[in-house]
Amino acid sequence: MPGNPPVPTFPARRLRRLRRTPALRRLVAQTRLTVDDLVAPLFVADGLDDPRPVASLPGVSQHTIPSLVDEVRRLQALGVPGVILFPLPRPEDKDPTGSAALDPDGITHRAIAAVRDAVGDGLVVMADCCLDEFTDHGHCGIVDPTTGDVDNDATIERYADLAVLQARAGADVIAPSGMMDGQVAAIRDALDTAELPTTAILAYAAKYASALYGPFREAAEVTIVGGGDRNGYQQDPRNGREALAEVALDVAEGADMVMVKPALTYLDVVTEVRRVVDVPVAAYHVSGEYAMVKAAAERGWIDGPAVALEQITAVKRAGADFVLTYFAGELAEVLGG
Ligand code: PBG
Repeated sequence: MPGNPPVPTFPARRLRRLRRTPALRRLVAQTRLTVDDLVAPLFVADGLDDPRPVASLPGVSQHTIPSLVDEVRRLQALGVPGVILFPLPRPEDKDPTGSAALDPDGITHRAIAAVRDAVGDGLVVMADCCLDEFTDHGHCGIVDPTTGDVDNDATIERYADLAVLQARAGADVIAPSGMMDGQVAAIRDALDTAELPTTAILAYAAKYASALYGPFREAAEVTIVGGGDRNGYQQDPRNGREALAEVALDVAEGADMVMVKPALTYLDVVTEVRRVVDVPVAAYHVSGEYAMVKAAAERGWIDGPAVALEQITAVKRAGADFVLTYFAGELAEVLGG
């Protein structure tokens, strides 16, 4: 009819037009995952003669110090900007207080120092600051014999000492993962007192009591005594809001960066945390998340590399500034350095 306005193009056509070619899709991509977003978790074990593959984490090994250094150099050459180190004692060196972690000549110090020597300032060296790998009962701290619970305040004193040892060995970033109250403040205070004010803290701020840490516990040879769990100190998966309280406390205590862990089952938490803090937000795509992709891919049920890329991109899209992932090396090869 004369005088009628032209019929607008159906809006969906507009969206489809921008998906037509790879170049168009590349131009309008909202989330850009790059090698700069990746941190590789690495295990190094005392007393090994050769690296030992971890069955439940295909492609991941417990390293010797020389093989750790080789792996770190390989990751650096691929453009990965950071690693997080998990040193493991000899099984016979585990005890109730995790004292082997604090041995000044122990695996903690030797592994971090070797990596620092190899890479200089060319790579961010993070140190997981926890005791579960070193305690014979497998809890993240010292257990109070009367209650059977982890003694929060005795534990954070040990974390503070461990953080100083890790920083002196050359760690750029201390990453306390034990979910003890006041751990960030205790570590910050100890670092400052030890005249290590430039060492940063990445707080595992919102760490859930997840069933997805199973393969990690195999890799780190951690068994919680008596079939116990960490439900008394890690967060309940049903609770989203308390993650924001945990994050706010850690930032107030001096955390330079905060982490949400695991990643995919807590993408809502990543988004919320990103919204409320100004510090960088990390997410940890944990061992179980990696193992599920590897296992399904091994059976030919999914395209493993494609799923890995999709998952880690989703973590970034949800709001993470960087992602700790056992896929770091593989993704770096795909994404280019
Ligand atoms: C504790 C720690 C754990 C992980 C990282 N640091 C295990 C736990 O809390 O039981 C798990 C990481 C993963 O599953 O990849 N030191």
